[in-house]
Amino acid sequence: MGLKRIGILTGGGDCPGLNPSIKAVTKKAYEQKIETIGLKEGWQAFINDDLLPMHLNLDIVRHIDRQGGTILGTSRTNPLKIENGPKKVLDKMAKLKLDALICIGGEDTLGVAHKLYAEYGLNVVGIPKTIDKDLSATDYCLGFSSAVEVITDSIDALRSTAESHSRIFVVEVMGRHAGHLALQGGISSGASVILLPEHNFDIEHVCKLLIARKDRGVRYSIVLAAEGAKALGYDFSLLTKERDAFGHVRLGGVGQWLAEEIEKQCGLESRSVVLSHLQRGGKPCAYDRQMGFYFGVAAVEALLKKRFGQMVAQREGRVILTPIKDAVEKLSYVNIEKFYDASIYRAKQSIIGDII
Ligand code: F6P
Repeated sequence: MGLKRIGILTGGGDCPGLNPSIKAVTKKAYEQKIETIGLKEGWQAFINDDLLPMHLNLDIVRHIDRQGGTILGTSRTNPLKIENGPKKVLDKMAKLKLDALICIGGEDTLGVAHKLYAEYGLNVVGIPKTIDKDLSATDYCLGFSSAVEVITDSIDALRSTAESHSRIFVVEVMGRHAGHLALQGGISSGASVILLPEHNFDIEHVCKLLIARKDRGVRYSIVLAAEGAKALGYDFSLLTKERDAFGHVRLGGVGQWLAEEIEKQCGLESRSVVLSHLQRGGKPCAYDRQMGFYFGVAAVEALLKKRFGQMVAQREGRVILTPIKDAVEKLSYVNIEKFYDASIYRAKQSIIGDII
């Protein structure tokens, strides 16, 4: 049986890069005479009958590759936690006459996609997205580069006020328990100290590094802290202990804690800035538009070849297919030994031969 109609959804945290891939899917499917149906608000589309499907066409998607977010909307809905959730998904697939589904998501959305494929036979292909870049089996996830751009631009903007006032600025960035965003944001912006979730930091050592810079005559320093970074002997800083449908707490607060400790322990005037959801906002950078295109086209090709249960991925510069299971089973974290110098809390200065 050839494909006549496919569905597409975006789930989890939004990011720039989703719309370019929705456009690429719609155009590639159109070229193959396949209809594309946009499902609204992630997995919620299958649970809530008020969410009417969106018939995507070339006119609708023409300009969306320049827009951040997702025209389909998103949510952190977990159908596996809802009574008869998997059945609702399969029933709606049948009702809408969808032959297959493309899911654009991170660990949670694709985790559900994998379960529905493996245990309920859903014809699904995944596209990786998350500014955290913590999916395994792929070197790239949509949204990551755009978020690094936001961090870089924000820190560039902070430098003038930091220098004028001779202050320390602690910048807290997202990434959950993975430090990819903090490390790459830190390298791009030239942060003086980078604190990652993968290596518990010693606040006294942070102070020592900052005082040494001051003693060398440097007027200000930027400390870039991942939201999941922890001081030795302390737990994660949390915004709330409540968990979402996938069991995640909301991290946040380490930046403010650090600014206060730095003032207290080294007497350097400090401020904290939380970049928060700004990192997921704005238009997609050029790379996310390109990868949105490649991943979108490849996802339709995967469906045409009936490679269900697979995710499109980038590895060593090539776009390939890999089981969704391999991407979500365990997450990818920064390899501290290879890429981080724990004596200066910055990127390691020894590189050749390693792929990040
Ligand atoms: O997973 C993407 C991400 O932006 C994380 O970096 C962050 O911890 C989380 O989502 C924030 O989630 P929410 O948008 O639900 O506040």
